[in-house]
Amino acid sequence: MSALEPSPAAIEAFNTGMAGFWHPVALTSELTADRPLAVELLGRRLALARLGDGISAFDDLCRHFGAALSIGQIVDGCLRCAYHGWTYDQGGTVVDIPARRGLPIPREAKVACYPATDAFGLVWVCLAEHPKAGLPAYPEFADEAFVKTPYRTYEGWQAAATRIVMAALDDTHFPWVHPGILGDPSQPEPPDHKAWVSGDHLVAAYTIEQPPNISLGSAEGATGLESVTYTNNCFPSTIRLHKEAPGGVFILFQTMQPIAHNRSRIFLQVARNFDLDPARDESYLAFEDVIQSQDKPVVESQRPWLLPPLSSRLMLYVRPADLPLIAYQKWLEELGIPQI
Ligand code: FES
Ligand code: FE
Repeated sequence: MSALEPSPAAIEAFNTGMAGFWHPVALTSELTADRPLAVELLGRRLALARLGDGISAFDDLCRHFGAALSIGQIVDGCLRCAYHGWTYDQGGTVVDIPARRGLPIPREAKVACYPATDAFGLVWVCLAEHPKAGLPAYPEFADEAFVKTPYRTYEGWQAAATRIVMAALDDTHFPWVHPGILGDPSQPEPPDHKAWVSGDHLVAAYTIEQPPNISLGSAEGATGLESVTYTNNCFPSTIRLHKEAPGGVFILFQTMQPIAHNRSRIFLQVARNFDLDPARDESYLAFEDVIQSQDKPVVESQRPWLLPPLSSRLMLYVRPADLPLIAYQKWLEELGIPQI
């Protein structure tokens, strides 16, 4: 194993630390009422199903002979295994064993069932019985002053969710990775960063100059640089960027499904309180496609997969430029999400 590969124990510690928080696992529209859905979260295979009036998230492993419950059927508000028909209720307890009707059902006939919910057009799961924090905040989702694009998903990024949050939080890469769009290489100096913990999230705020671009609501043909204030709210696998420019407020809600320590699926939605015609949505998503495609090769190249502990000094942070990233990593460590 190379020094850049985390040990099995380190991966386990990362998964355990992340397990206390809510993570997205699917678009709400992907989980239909008539069939279960297989997803992966933190190295664990899950079967999702709409049972009764809620969403159930089970280990995707029938307690009988280990068939995947995600290939089963929904019958009368329960999930029936495809192999021998063992049937699980909303909470993961077996309520029918067809080959043994009339006899008591063994007490151990149940599967682990995790908290699951629908919010912001996504299905969220927490792998701990008692979540350590609420869902990420996204007030603009219910605010009619903001028009929301459909979600864009980016599949199979070979990176940890925490590395992707850091990339979105990091403004000093703008001139290098997004020149002419989000930054100007002739002006690499960092802005004055503020970062603080507020309740169950971390806030990082700064004001920078950016080339005119669609996210600023810039006027057609605008030149020069425009001032934009970012207020970024970070959660362990989610970041909500709030950009305020003279053209209006632009929100980037970007949340990662941590499939494993080295693999993530990205869900991204843009909300804006200007240029309100939904016919314009695709232009905003196309803009994000460019940004994401520029970030992807850099983020996927980063090693170790998980952040080395701050105390190890394996990453050479520099102040004041990297202040928000130092704050994010310190906060993760305080939350009990160890890296390697
Ligand atoms: Fe599921 Fe037998 S493996 S019922
Ligand atoms: Fe970037």
